[in-house]
Amino acid sequence: MKLNQKNIEKNIKKPVTVRLYDSIDSTNNEAKRRADIDKGMHLYAAGRQTAGRGRHGNRFYSPKDTGLYMTLSLPLDDSRTQVQQITCAAAVAVCEAINELSDLHPQIKWVNDIFVGGKKAGGILTELISDDQNRPTAVIIGIGLNLNTEDFPAEIADKAGNLGSIDIDLLCAAIVNNLITEQDNLSNNSIIEKYKSLNLCIGRDVRFTKDGAEHTAKAVDVNADGGLVVKENGEFTVLNSGEISVLPQ
Ligand code: BTN
Repeated sequence: MKLNQKNIEKNIKKPVTVRLYDSIDSTNNEAKRRADIDKGMHLYAAGRQTAGRGRHGNRFYSPKDTGLYMTLSLPLDDSRTQVQQITCAAAVAVCEAINELSDLHPQIKWVNDIFVGGKKAGGILTELISDDQNRPTAVIIGIGLNLNTEDFPAEIADKAGNLGSIDIDLLCAAIVNNLITEQDNLSNNSIIEKYKSLNLCIGRDVRFTKDGAEHTAKAVDVNADGGLVVKENGEFTVLNSGEISVLPQ
């Protein structure tokens, strides 16, 4: 499936400049490269990425025309610099878009992996653009979703899944529309309530590494900043970053 500029533009409800590429290293990289010239809201999307990036320096597998690889760049004012909260809002926006166009009922694995049927079908990489005085000027929200991708590299083959056939232009536009709405409502705490209701971690045992030690704890809540609240031996800890594994029930 190929991205179509006109179909995307027709379905986006806000003034967003759309830049499409057949192939690019990474749409997040492109958003960063163009940050000085591209002011206002911009969407970068590509048919394939040769160096798609995930969180923690992971690669995001992005083969030609089988997935949605997109980055939305949004100008920031000072009050909206909470990357973790923005990331949670982005995960909600993506799940809501998938729900609008399918019966898949996606879920979120903290922080922002998109899961369908127990497999990771996509992820989100949020990064800040700052000016020369280190003040954030824009947030770039990179989203990768496997649509018809099937032949995954061996290292992710048992964990990766896909969304199947969803209209790629409608999905892209719905995500953009939802992202803009959710980012405008960040101060409103309802985003965390939505995030929690879509989260597959709450109530489950999770494993993580903290200060060099392995922990197993129960995930009990998500706080107002998007931190995962876990309980281990009666003590509560908030995880603000890092990777968790969710243990089988
Ligand atoms: C993750 O799973 O850790 C996050 C994956 C984010 C992938 C998307 S694809 C579009 C954008 N460009 C990138 O290089 N990464 C993000």
